[in-house]
Order: sequence, then structure tokens, then C-alpha cells
Amino acid sequence: MNKTYDIVLLGGTGVTGRATFVHLSNYLPPGTKWAIAGRNRERLEALTALGSEEDVKPDIVVMDLNDRGAVEKVIRDTRVVLHLAGPYAEYGEQFFQLCIKHQTHYADIGGETFFLQRMIQQYHGAAQSAKVKIIPTAGYESVPFDYLTYITALQVRERFKEGLNDVKIIASFLRTGRKRDNRISGGSLGTMRSIIAGDTVGAFNDMSCLLPDDCDRKAVKRENRVRYAATLDPDVNAFVGPLQPAPFLNVPVILRSAYLHKQLGEPYGVSFKYRDAMTMEFYADSPAKQQAAANRSARLNKLMSITMAAPRFARGWLSSRLDNMNIDVGQGPDEATFPFVDYRLRLFGRTESGIKITSEANAKGHPGYLSTSKIIAEVGMGLMDQEGNYQNFGIVTPSVGLGSAFTSQLERAGVSFSSLLSQSETLARATS
Ligand SMILES: NC(=O)c1ccc[n+]([C@@H]2O[C@H](COP(=O)([O-])OP(=O)(O)OC[C@H]3O[C@@H](n4cnc5c(N)ncnc54)[C@H](OP(=O)(O)O)[C@@H]3O)[C@@H](O)[C@H]2O)c1
Repeated sequence: MNKTYDIVLLGGTGVTGRATFVHLSNYLPPGTKWAIAGRNRERLEALTALGSEEDVKPDIVVMDLNDRGAVEKVIRDTRVVLHLAGPYAEYGEQFFQLCIKHQTHYADIGGETFFLQRMIQQYHGAAQSAKVKIIPTAGYESVPFDYLTYITALQVRERFKEGLNDVKIIASFLRTGRKRDNRISGGSLGTMRSIIAGDTVGAFNDMSCLLPDDCDRKAVKRENRVRYAATLDPDVNAFVGPLQPAPFLNVPVILRSAYLHKQLGEPYGVSFKYRDAMTMEFYADSPAKQQAAANRSARLNKLMSITMAAPRFARGWLSSRLDNMNIDVGQGPDEATFPFVDYRLRLFGRTESGIKITSEANAKGHPGYLSTSKIIAEVGMGLMDQEGNYQNFGIVTPSVGLGSAFTSQLERAGVSFSSLLSQSETLARATS
């Protein structure tokens, strides 16, 4: 389809968006027609200064999310929209409607599962019919987790001729320099506020929330409940707590991946289950302090889960805790610290016949605000390339929308995957 722009970045002036702009500037193929869109021309102009001389320069489009006409014009004129101006529940539905109407592919880095649930129920079928790919949650949450699981499932299928049934991923944030800044951004805070105010359907505590009703959602919910507990994990021999910052997000996305891939005849086992957790060495040095940190994190997240199960009026304490943090839109942790955090994801799984396997992903850059930025930029470029793949249209997960070939693009975003090892191979390596 002949459109003015191949790709438009919306929200490029934000904490996550700035590095996305830089990654796009560096890697967009020569000749790409692109634009950055936002509500403030001066900030958009300042953003272009972050690119280098040789880069393909973007146009600037001034538009506000609350101006539907301006949003429609951007979507109509563009093949791929990257939407980083979250949170999404307030102004997000128009993107689903208009991308379907104008056959525009779309990705975002949202985490409001209550909103996504409704979007899937209302628009997945229409997006499939219109041959449009809509990929929400395309950042640190949930691309590397989704892909590590998917690639492992493919390898299990190829090597053992069976499905992957049980997956646990343990994430570790690794400090690679002395500086660190654990604060979150105004956008992430906005997402938490949106969830507290908007989740009246219990999606926060329901890991089956992104699945259709024709699968046994009750069983999926029961078997994939998030464990808000601190434990000494035997596989990594370290204390782990709930995954941060959003322990409620990867699980429903990856369960949706398993469901959609199964429909396409691909690799997951019949009783696939998923959970994740994280180690604490980023926050504390000694095992005792790590145990205490894991306990604190588990308690806080458990409290949040209990509060989210209560009616909206009872959630006030949670909102006031967030208000006290005083972080505005566009503010966040010190960007100079972003390159000094890497992360590792270790997957421990079982095949349908019970063979224990492991695999791993390693990634460079702050998970939320640098790795996410590069990943979503690559997702955008992946969408620019993938218009012909009919069957994976709709509101899909990253691995369903972009397939296994996308792993090479993830490498360019600093995310790499090791190949799968069985338990005996892991033992042999450990003892050699
Ligand atoms: N899944 C993940 O792994 C992950 C990781 C990080 C962040 N996130 C999510 O990403 C989203 C953005 O986070 P962030 O930290 O980048 O936020 P941020 O720094 O607050 O940036 C927000 C962006 O949205 C723009 N914006 C806000 N209201 C707008 C409006 N009415 N019209 C047009 N543009 C508007 C802002 O533009 P101005 O410059 O004009 O204010 C800015 O560019 C949040 O939803 C966050 O939860 C997800």
C-alpha cells in the first residue's frame, strides 16, 4: 500500500522513546520514509538532534492523543506505527480501531492487561480480517521472555519430537558499572495508576485474561497463578522474588503465545504452563540481604495483588503511594546509568515426557528503558518487513506476529539466545 510513511514513532520524547529514536535513526534502512509524532514541536525538534549526521532524518508531525482527527491522519498515512506514549487505556482504543480501518501495523509497550483483554475480545477478529498485525507488550516485557520460551519450544520439538510443557524463567539484572538508579519513569507510574483505576475485571490476578473463552480458562488461571513468595530457587541456587516491575504481565502474554502458536500447529506442549521470578543480586550483595530483598518484594507485590482483588474504592492507599513518588511524564531514572545494567534470563523446563531442559537469553542495557527501547524499534522494523505473512495477523504476541526469523533482529537490539541443553548436557558441562 502506498503511504506517506513507512514508520512513525509516537512518544519519542519520553524516557523510553528517546533511545528508540536513536536506535531507529541508526538502523532504519536507507530511503525509509519516517516521522516522529508528538504534542510538542520544540521537544520533537530537540529529539532530532540526538541522531547523527548520516542518519535518515524524520519528518515532524505535531499531534495530540486526544485529537482523534490528528491521530487518524497519522495512522492513515503510515504503514507501521510505534506507540510509546503510554499509558494506553485512556486513548488507546482509537489506535486499534483506526489501524484496522487503515491497514496499519502497530506495536506498543503497554502493560494494562485489563485494557488489552477488552481490545482482544473486540478487535482481534477484525484485525485478522484486515490483515493487520497489532503487537502490544513489545518491550522488555514481554519480548525476550516470549522469544526465549518460543525458541526453546521450537528446539524441543525439533530435537525430542515433543512439546514443551513446563517453563520457569529466572531473570537476573546484572550491574556492569558502579552507577545505578532504580527509580521508574513517569510513564511506568502512569501505567500503574491506570491499572489501579481501570482494572475492574480482575485481569491483574487472572493469568488467563488474554485467552479466549473457548479454552479452559479456569484451569489455566489455577495452574499459572503468580507466586508472590520469596524462595530459595534450587535451579539457580539463589533467593528469588516476583519478577519486577510487572509480575502480572509476561504470564498472560506467553500463555496467549502458546495458545496462538498451537492453533498454527506449532510447538508448545498440551499442558503448557509458565511462570517467572527474579534473583536479587542487583539490589543486595550478600545472600542474607538478597533473601530480605526477595521477601520485601514478595510482600509488597502480594499486598498489591490483594488490593487489586478489592473494589476500586479500596485501592486508595496504593494510588497515594504512587502520588508520593512525584514523578512526572518524561521524568525517570538517570539515562547515564542505562548502559550499566545487563540482564540474563535462565529458562528451566520440561518436555511432555519429562525431560529436563535449560536455555538462556542474555541482553544488554537497562531492561525497562534501554533494552525495551531497542527491542520496540526492532519490532517496528520487523513489522515493516513482514507484511506478507497472512496467518499471523490480529492482536498477537511478539513471537506470533514476528516468528523465529526475528531473533536475528533481536541480536541487533542486544538480546541473544543460547541453544537448548538437556539435563545430562548441563551436568556434563558443570563437571567438565
Ligand atoms: N513493556 C515494557 O517493558 C515497558 C518498559 C518501559 C516503559 N513501558 C511503558 O511505556 C510507556 C511510556 O513510558 P515512558 O517511561 O517512556 O513515559 P514518559 O517518559 O512519561 O513519556 C511519555 C511520552 O508520551 C507522550 N505523551 C503523553 N501524553 C501525550 C499526548 N496527550 N499526546 C501526545 N503525546 C503524549 C509524551 O510527550 P511529551 O514529551 O510531549 O510529554 C512522551 O513522549 C508507559 O506506558 C510505560 O508503562 C513499558
